[in-house]
Amino acid sequence: METETQTTTEQMTNSDLSEQIKEVTKESHVRAENTELMLSFQRGQVTMPQHKLLLCSLYEVYKVLEEEMDRNSHHPCVAPIYFPAELARLGTLEKDLEYFNGQDWREKVVVPAATKRYCHRLRQIGKENPEFLVAHAYTRYLGDLSGGQVLGRIAQKSMGLKGSEGLSFFAFPGVSSPNRFKQLYRSRMNSVELTEEERNGVLEEAVRAFELNIQVFDDLQKMLLSVPENKLQTLSTHTTPAKMLQIPRAIVQSSALLRTLLGLFVALATVSIGIYAF
Ligand code: HEM
Repeated sequence: METETQTTTEQMTNSDLSEQIKEVTKESHVRAENTELMLSFQRGQVTMPQHKLLLCSLYEVYKVLEEEMDRNSHHPCVAPIYFPAELARLGTLEKDLEYFNGQDWREKVVVPAATKRYCHRLRQIGKENPEFLVAHAYTRYLGDLSGGQVLGRIAQKSMGLKGSEGLSFFAFPGVSSPNRFKQLYRSRMNSVELTEEERNGVLEEAVRAFELNIQVFDDLQKMLLSVPENKLQTLSTHTTPAKMLQIPRAIVQSSALLRTLLGLFVALATVSIGIYAF
């Protein structure tokens, strides 16, 4: 297998897949960065429940992505960008989930409907259009090697984690220089031979990959707003999304009532103190 030190120094051109894919996903990248969940990361406000939920969804997504990459590893469009030793994330996610959720973490994996849709799409293209896996691998792995590196440091600080515990997902011990590796990856993408139709399909799929990620982040944020952490822990992967959202609504409504009562109480207390002081 080629190593990062053999990175090609060829100049990229506008007709290169790596340039085109970056261009067509530029707007989607901005939208992904601006989802509530990603903003929480960037503001250094990511909470443990947020992070744990995100790990669950990433676990499900990478399980399917990496299974499909492995199954299609000899496909001419997949082989050049197949770097399991350097990039595979599934093992790191299992480690982090065990760290945060204990040995029975598998029973506590909760995912929203959007994650299931993302996984379904990955399975479908793994079977029907393996060349589109390039778009999905690019979106996740190059993202993890780019902004993901900063997010790891922020997550550590926000959650007060010691050392690298619980942060395996963000670490790439097989990649000594993310920038050089990204160059190698781009040159490998550019070596993939695609018909014009296939190339357009890959570009479209990359936009779709970003969209699927955005929908996952939005769904996770909705779950966080509506499900208390103790309930999240007891829900299993097999829980239907409809069920997931039924429990919390009642809780949200009753807590809204409680908040109103509390607000009234505080307002009355403030007025009473004011009258007393006067
Ligand atoms: C807090 C959120 C994020 C931040 C701060 C962030 C930041 C960055 C930065 C600084 C780069 C390097 C740009 C360059 O080298 O020109 C990058 C690249 C990239 N990011 Fe993000 N990102 C975020 C979220 C995401 C998400 C959610 C995805 C996809 C699901 C993603 C996918 C990518 C990809 C594929 C690249 C490689 C672009 C290329 O060189 O072709 N990013 N990101």
